[in-house]
Amino acid sequence: MMSARAIFGGIQRRAFSVSARNLSKVTVLGATGGIGQPLSLLLKLNPRVTELSLYDIRGAPGVAADVSHINTKSTVKGYGPSATGLADALKGSDIVLIPAGVPRKPGMSRDDLFNTNASIVRDLSKACAETCPNANILIISNPVNSTVPICAEVFKAQGVYNPKRLFGVTTLDVVRASRFVSELKGTDPKDEKITVVGGHSGVTIVPLFSQSGHPDLTSNADLVKRVQFGGDEVVQAKDGAGSATLSMAMAGARMAESLLRAAQGEAGVVEPTFVDSPLYKDQGIDFFASKVELGPNGVEKIHPIGEVDSIEAGLLEACLTDLKKNISKGVAFVASNPPK
Ligand code: NAD
Ligand code: LMR
Repeated sequence: MMSARAIFGGIQRRAFSVSARNLSKVTVLGATGGIGQPLSLLLKLNPRVTELSLYDIRGAPGVAADVSHINTKSTVKGYGPSATGLADALKGSDIVLIPAGVPRKPGMSRDDLFNTNASIVRDLSKACAETCPNANILIISNPVNSTVPICAEVFKAQGVYNPKRLFGVTTLDVVRASRFVSELKGTDPKDEKITVVGGHSGVTIVPLFSQSGHPDLTSNADLVKRVQFGGDEVVQAKDGAGSATLSMAMAGARMAESLLRAAQGEAGVVEPTFVDSPLYKDQGIDFFASKVELGPNGVEKIHPIGEVDSIEAGLLEACLTDLKKNISKGVAFVASNPPK
């Protein structure tokens, strides 16, 4: 087992002194699942988290009991689907991570998960809107391109939508891209800061190698495809037992850590994430993933796309077509299936 120091590096000592002044309740909805369990573990190891709240329709108290024995300072509580379980779990949350829902099997697209996961995310979003409307909501459940707009519509209907506080977690695309590039270049992945924009599904995932120190890689179609379809590699390898869980837990924990760093006063924290974005609103696309500077209020600044080469311009065009459909599908779902 790696120590908290090994995972969170040099930030740990500073964070301990900061956390004395900053109480951070982080809640995981879907905490018993393949992502939920390792994510809960990583959050328990994060000294910036002072209260960890774990909710699932099955088994969360058991996961919470297990994780609670880890000798870090935070308290841990598990909640099940009792009459007040979800509201109790959410009360006072600063960050809510949502990996609740079904994962893919080989041969499925993320959109094939829509029928099951749309209503799960809708209902959990309603509970968040009612109980912790000011929390940062981090959506992991697929299809992210649709589940994020679903959450936004639910918050709008409740009159509490704050576009600065809603995030689709696309961190795994960036994690993968840096790893895959480092394999090709023989570099250290931590030095490969690859910009990935768009959405989180197939061709909506657009790596921008030209502005990440590797203009030679934009014409490497195999690499571009590997970044866009990296999730399929894991789905196929797991052969029916689900999709990425461990790498996703690491990516989700990184996104939560970045928000906590920003909330606790660190300037210049930038993460790529799928947010309510002005970048393509003129084309009817309300959400887009790009580099986002985080702050105490959530989204601080959305970076422009920047310069792209002609190959990347083509990738962006394909991305926008699919993304628009995925977003509209989420919006239409809530319009015709409002939460009860
Ligand atoms: P899993 O089946 O192992 O776990 C899902 C958990 O959600 C289960 O414990 C289940 O009981 C719980 N759950 C279901 N309905 C719920 C509800 N209404 N309230 C609370 N909990 C509920 O699945 P997993 O492998 O952890 O994947 C979860 C989701 O994350 C999938 O939709 C998957 O596609 C997605 N995912 C996203 C990314 C990303 O990059 N954004 C990466 C990997 C997986
Ligand atoms: C991923 O990128 O690994 C996830 O979105 C899960 C999946 O279905 O591929």
